Amino acid sequence: MNEIVFASNNIHKLTEVRTKLTGFFQILSLKDINCHDEIPETANTFEGNAEQKAIWILDKYGYDCFADDSGIEIEALDNKPGVFSARYAGENCTFDDNNRKVLKELENIENKNAKFVTTICLKLNGKTHFFKGEVKGKIIDEYRGTEGFGYDPIFVPDGYNISFAEMRLEDKNKISHRALAIDKMLLFFNKK
Ligand code: IMP
Repeated sequence: MNEIVFASNNIHKLTEVRTKLTGFFQILSLKDINCHDEIPETANTFEGNAEQKAIWILDKYGYDCFADDSGIEIEALDNKPGVFSARYAGENCTFDDNNRKVLKELENIENKNAKFVTTICLKLNGKTHFFKGEVKGKIIDEYRGTEGFGYDPIFVPDGYNISFAEMRLEDKNKISHRALAIDKMLLFFNKK
């Protein structure tokens, strides 16, 4: 079976992707190809960052690959934190720091609309493809739930009355921005 690199070492993402892409490719992680680089993510769009990571692997290691970049966009904050989601409260900040900063900034603001976004960049046979997944929802006023990571405790997806952090991981993984982007890539592979 053909090998393809998923530019990640995140075990949750790797498991999700491996489960879904069984039969298409053998998925190699960064560790599997002995890549321990700090891959730069300096673009100002999700597409840009995902492609930057994919180009790094293709150019330096010679593998066809795909890479993802995700974050949350909050309408009332001019779509921030966006590509800065991981470090919104500063370098080396925690998930908790980020969530508290968001709650403070939205304290007296009525518009709580937000969306999680994932963009995947795939480099395959000399061509570049992008797949995007989005989940719309609302930021709530306080933490709810303990599952998941990042902004999950303060985000309730549209059509639900529980936060991402109150969902079982397997349920979140069915409707998440990442799942939607991966599913689009799957459709693409199925059509090939
Ligand atoms: P990454 O590109 O998947 O590493 O995500 C960057 C940052 O976006 C993470 O550090 C989180 O702060 C946030 N994020 C991405 N996906 C999720 C999610 O599913 N739940 C909560 N936060 C997320």
